[in-house]
Amino acid sequence: MEKLAVFVDALSRQGEHCIAVRLTPEPGKSLPAWEAGAHIDLHLANGLIRQYSLTGPPGGTDHYLICVKNERDSRGGSRYLHNELRLGQQMEISPPRNLFPLEEADSYLLIAGGIGLTPLLAMAEELERLKQPFELHYYVKRRSHVIFRERLDSHFAYGRCHVGSGCEGRSPRTALPEGLAQPAAGKKLYLCGPEAFMSHIRNRALDAGWRSEDIHSESFQPPARNIPCAQIEHDFTVTLKSSGMSFTVPPDKTIAAVLQEHGVDVPLSCEMGICGACLTPVLEGKADHRDTVQSETEKAGQKQLITLCCSRSLTGNLVIDL
Ligand code: FES
Repeated sequence: MEKLAVFVDALSRQGEHCIAVRLTPEPGKSLPAWEAGAHIDLHLANGLIRQYSLTGPPGGTDHYLICVKNERDSRGGSRYLHNELRLGQQMEISPPRNLFPLEEADSYLLIAGGIGLTPLLAMAEELERLKQPFELHYYVKRRSHVIFRERLDSHFAYGRCHVGSGCEGRSPRTALPEGLAQPAAGKKLYLCGPEAFMSHIRNRALDAGWRSEDIHSESFQPPARNIPCAQIEHDFTVTLKSSGMSFTVPPDKTIAAVLQEHGVDVPLSCEMGICGACLTPVLEGKADHRDTVQSETEKAGQKQLITLCCSRSLTGNLVIDL
């Protein structure tokens, strides 16, 4: 997997719990251009790989900006970045990958919860550049948690920005944006935040008559798996188109793990179904999707892609384009 060397060029505190990290390329080099909604993988010195959305005005090749929350139940990534990261430190990252692109529309409703602001702020910057109307609604528990406050307080000529604080009685449960009750042809809804936050807003949007294909969301948390006790995982086989070789995937292993055991190169990153690095076309059979990378519309579409790190099969065999 391609890696890029970058340096930590600036660190700044954002709200009570977050730090913004500015990454620059090696002297004389530039970074790949990026689009709103893109994320990068950070390869940490402790061996972990974590995904962070790029934020700020998209496109720039002289630096990337990410924001990292100090998660109380950190799985090691955010704690490492908050405790160990130093100015000037060299790091390795992946090139940007965009699974949450801005689609063409007449107007946009962007709704962020907490650290989920980062990709949506990049979208707001891009829409401002394109002179496209948008509303950005950003929910936090307390005002002291607001990140990128200066940018939010400054003027967007084409968009309006609203911050809702749960402690002031304006949470997604008590004060949803009026625009959520007003779906319209040519209007798109983008969501980013904790899983429960997104599913609450997605359900309200569907109740209000939004078409599911006009609702776009991104999660950087693994989905809560809720497999009924009665559901037993089954063996299935996976067949590679290139060689015709088939391998059995037992209940306790992922497709990726089985392929790697047999020397097949699988592009992996998060290994939790949230980054899209391992998405592979399915040529025959039906995938049992366990990821949050793809929308429900994509999962139900004709052209099937499967995340090899976590998804399984509903049919006895899956032929994949590897
Ligand atoms: S490795 Fe991230 S979705 Fe599979």
